[in-house]
Amino acid sequence: MSANSPAVDPQRVTALLARERSRFAERTPKSHALAERTAKHWLNGVPMHWMVDWGTPYPLFVTEARGVALTDADGHSYVDFCLGDTGAMFGHSPPAVADAIRRQADRGLTTMLPSPDAAIVGELLAQRFKLPYWQVTATASDANRSVIRWARAATGRRKLLVFNGCYHGAVDDTFVALENGKPRNRPGLVGEVRDVTVDTVVIEFNDLTALEAALANNDIALVLAEPVMTNCGMVLPEDGYHDALRSLTRKHGTLLCIDETHTISSGAGGYTATHGLEPDFFVMGKPISGGVPAAIYGWSDAVDARIKMYMADREGGYSGIGTTLSGSALQLACMRAVLETIITDEVYGRALPLAEFLERGIETIIRHHDLPWHVVRVGLRAEIVSAAEHPRNGTQALLFAHSEAEHALHLYCLNRGVVITPFHNMMLVCPETTEPDVARLLNALDGAMSELSGKLPLRATATH
Ligand SMILES: Cc1ncc(COP(=O)(O)O)c(C=O)c1O
Repeated sequence: MSANSPAVDPQRVTALLARERSRFAERTPKSHALAERTAKHWLNGVPMHWMVDWGTPYPLFVTEARGVALTDADGHSYVDFCLGDTGAMFGHSPPAVADAIRRQADRGLTTMLPSPDAAIVGELLAQRFKLPYWQVTATASDANRSVIRWARAATGRRKLLVFNGCYHGAVDDTFVALENGKPRNRPGLVGEVRDVTVDTVVIEFNDLTALEAALANNDIALVLAEPVMTNCGMVLPEDGYHDALRSLTRKHGTLLCIDETHTISSGAGGYTATHGLEPDFFVMGKPISGGVPAAIYGWSDAVDARIKMYMADREGGYSGIGTTLSGSALQLACMRAVLETIITDEVYGRALPLAEFLERGIETIIRHHDLPWHVVRVGLRAEIVSAAEHPRNGTQALLFAHSEAEHALHLYCLNRGVVITPFHNMMLVCPETTEPDVARLLNALDGAMSELSGKLPLRATATH
């Protein structure tokens, strides 16, 4: 059942959206004035064109972001549950990272040589994520691109396998999709000249028959997977899926990369440590340096031996892997601060109960309003799914998505001082989120769902 079911009247969604868009415009004249200026010099009026994908008539301009507090150009404050769509997952400018930036600012930011922090960060990465060898890139997109190249080199195979509905960053090789069960280049790609399906196989997540068939020719170098799909809505692995994925990839000589860029929400070692996965490669970007652009990828001893064999015979020249600002002193200083003080069991242990509280609160509100929706959570990351049943794969997740209702929820919350991610309404609890912050979010969601269901808000009916 989708949110288009009679339980969510499309007219209510349209009316709510229209009202909240005008309310946004009334509240934010300074953002509006800034948008008129930026429209003259930036694509879509913003320094990165996704910044207009928020369902607002023009972007909200942010003057300050600290912890979970945002301030906009008109002086309004917000509690932030979007947290830069994970880039600021540990809060904006965490104090330890701000200190590291200040310290490093006086010592040089980038030199194309390692800083002593590299010794400590290498050890911390190995301890935390249980793989021995590591490299730094500027973004998670870069990390995934690098892993694909290394896997091809190590296996001598060309092909990549990804899951329908996946997103691993701006990585050309992954831009394939299934349409009526047939692979094609993802719709909407700008400037793509290749048929990506030639070297990339795409199948549905949770489909072991398709996986076995795809691996059977022993010609796939790498399976690149998020352990939980988080970019087409949230798709959880079914019981036993990861065990089967691991044993099938091993059986067919295919390497397995787990991209933890979002699922680091699971715990200090990511979903991998929480659920005992055994990937050959591990990728994590976004919050690894607390918001300073950086990502890491790691690999096992066995992969390392194959990489070394490959490198021994390789023709000289540029590898096609690596960029100038990767592994900089600034990235390493910030990464050290994050690994020493934030990505720890203790910090996650404090934040996780609040995420559970948020999940229970949303469930109760959805049930009260009798909406055909549910909430799904992976550690500190929660999302409202606009369907009663849980999607099994990317196709179902995209079918269940209801962008108008999602925008309506998002805008309603924004106008009441709470920021959630506009796409599939993702909410992150961070170490600095408090119980009153979560209560404020729940109140806003209750109000928005009340408008959509036509029922009184839960808080108005609760007995004291
Ligand atoms: C799972 C996953 N991997 C990689 C990326 C790419 O990250 P970046 O945009 O920092 O390159 C993203 C971005 O959303 C992601 O969700």
